[in-house]
Parts: sequence; C-alpha cells; structure tokens
Amino acid sequence: MKTLIVTAHPDPESLTAGIAEQLRTALEPAEVEVADLAAEDFDPRFGAADRHSYRVGGEFSPDVLREHRRLDAADHLVLVFPVWWWSMPALLKGWVDRVFVNGWAFDVSAPDAEGGMRRNLGGLTIHLLLVAGDSASTYERHGYEQVLETQIGHGIVDYVGARRGATAWVHDSERDDDAGRRKAVEEAVAQVAAAVRGA
Ligand SMILES: Cc1cc2nc3c(=O)[nH]c(=O)nc-3n(C[C@H](O)[C@H](O)[C@H](O)COP(=O)(O)O)c2cc1C
Repeated sequence: MKTLIVTAHPDPESLTAGIAEQLRTALEPAEVEVADLAAEDFDPRFGAADRHSYRVGGEFSPDVLREHRRLDAADHLVLVFPVWWWSMPALLKGWVDRVFVNGWAFDVSAPDAEGGMRRNLGGLTIHLLLVAGDSASTYERHGYEQVLETQIGHGIVDYVGARRGATAWVHDSERDDDAGRRKAVEEAVAQVAAAVRGA
C-alpha cells in the first residue's frame, strides 16, 4: 500500500511542510512519498498544451505524465495545504487543474455502463489535511468548512470517482499557543494516518 502526500508551500520551514513530514513519519514503514510542489518547481499554469490535452483527452505533457505515474502507483493521496482565501494555494490548484484531466482522471467521450461520464480514479482514496489561520468557530459560522468540503470533496474527489478519506484540520495555526498547535497537529496527523491504515 502506497501513500502519496502532495503539499504546496514556499517555505520548507512552514507548519504545513512540517506536518507533511510528520505524516510521512507516522505512516512509515509503509511506502510513502512526499511531493513538495514548490521544491519540485511544478509549473501550475494551465497552458496551450494542457488545453490541447483537455480537448483530445490525451497527449499529456511530460510533467503531467510524471504526476499520473506517481498517482497510478498510489492507493492513498493526502493533500496537505494551508488555507489561502478559503481555498487551496494556487500552486496546488494548478496541479489539480493540469493533472486531474480528461483522458486520465475521467473520460468525457467514453461513457460508463449507465451512459454517464467515466470516472477513472476508483482505486484511489483522497484525504485532506488543511492548515487554517482562523478558528473552527469562524469556519462554522461562515460555512467555510462546508464550502471546502463541497468544492474539494464533492467537486474534485467525487468527480473523478475516488473514495473520500479523512478530512483533518489544524485551526488557529498562527495563534501564540505552541502547546495547542502541537496538540492540534498531532490529532490531525493521527486522524489521517488512522484513515490510511484502516482503509
Ligand atoms: C495569501 C494568504 C491567504 C490566507 N487566507 C486564509 C483564509 O482564507 N483562511 C484562513 O483560515 N487562513 C488564511 N490564511 C492564513 C494561513 O492559513 C496561515 O498562514 C497558515 O495556516 C499558517 O501555516 P504555514 O506556516 O504552514 O503557512 C492566509 C494566509 C495567506 C498567506
């Protein structure tokens, strides 16, 4: 069983980067790879070549193909990211835009048995670990948590036919409370690790 952790943060010393490493340690000795999109200099811009691939459902760029091979080898995908403007960082969004594409993640021109769009990632369970500056009560009060669950859980995970795994949160990520943050990180990492192991 293999887990691919994908993270996107410009600072290798960030809380987000540290959480991705903590999760790697929690999952080992099972096979686990951390894809740090910033360190790898992944290009998130959906360009003309991506537009062409989208239209023909194939002929993917080499950097996109590389991500497909990584995901093909994984049973679990964990997205670890800071919440920026109630969403994922543009770098991670661009990775989704370019990698979760027609002809690989789904097929618009190859209907399933019921005549619906074919969703190809049934072998993958996708987990989310979100690092948020604001409190859980702020998310609750404004409906932001529901927005993210709908947008990512339903809009991406369900759309490609993957299984929904754990959604874990570290709230108040910048509050002056080291002990509280450490506890929140430990709980979030344990929640995702248990979901990966138990699935
Ligand atoms: C551009 C930007 C946008 C942000 N937007 C949000 C937001 O919408 N909601 C939130 O809870 N925190 C927001 N924050 C705070 C980040 O979530 C916080 O900086 C991060 O969780 C801290 O972890 P890090 O050290 O890994 O970056 C934002 C931060 C930045 C830099």
